[in-house]
Amino acid sequence: MWGKYFNKTSIVAVVDRKIVGFISGFLQPTAPDTLFIWQVVVDQSQRGKGLATTLLLKLIKRLENTNIRFLEATVTPTNKPSNNLFKGLANKLETEYTKYECFSEDQFPDPSHEAEIAYRIGPLK
Ligand SMILES: CC(C)(COP(=O)(O)OP(=O)(O)OC[C@H]1O[C@@H](n2cnc3c(N)ncnc32)[C@H](O)[C@@H]1OP(=O)(O)O)[C@@H](O)C(=O)NCCC(=O)NCCS
Repeated sequence: MWGKYFNKTSIVAVVDRKIVGFISGFLQPTAPDTLFIWQVVVDQSQRGKGLATTLLLKLIKRLENTNIRFLEATVTPTNKPSNNLFKGLANKLETEYTKYECFSEDQFPDPSHEAEIAYRIGPLK
């Protein structure tokens, strides 16, 4: 389903015929100028080499002739790699980011789940 309906806003990285990273994204139904990044995962063997950043930049480049002007993604406060990924992306795109609480802790049934903080990056040039 994801590959069929959301492939233009998603991307995978393949090394030696094995998927080692993927990003699933979609256009926000209520904000079609915003690319929402749902999941970003890089295989442990490939982390810290710039792969997630490269995938995000490729996805943005692919969508440059569309109306997308912002990118959003949620991260938990203690996920340092993920926080650095989106801060670093804003920096590389030479644009700003703002943060807001997308889902609070008490919205999760699991009491140990942290809040999900959204990064809103843009405007994209
Ligand atoms: C988050 C994740 C996708 C990053 O992938 P990656 O390919 O290693 O990221 P990059 O190499 O492009 O690094 C992006 C930035 O994060 C920083 N970073 C990467 N790993 C880090 C770590 N372990 N600790 C601190 N910073 C880190 C990099 O230095 C880089 O910063 P810069 O842009 O200022 O140079 C990867 O760690 C992962 O798959 N984690 C598990 C799944 C997850 O938590 N996904 C996010 C939830 S949506």
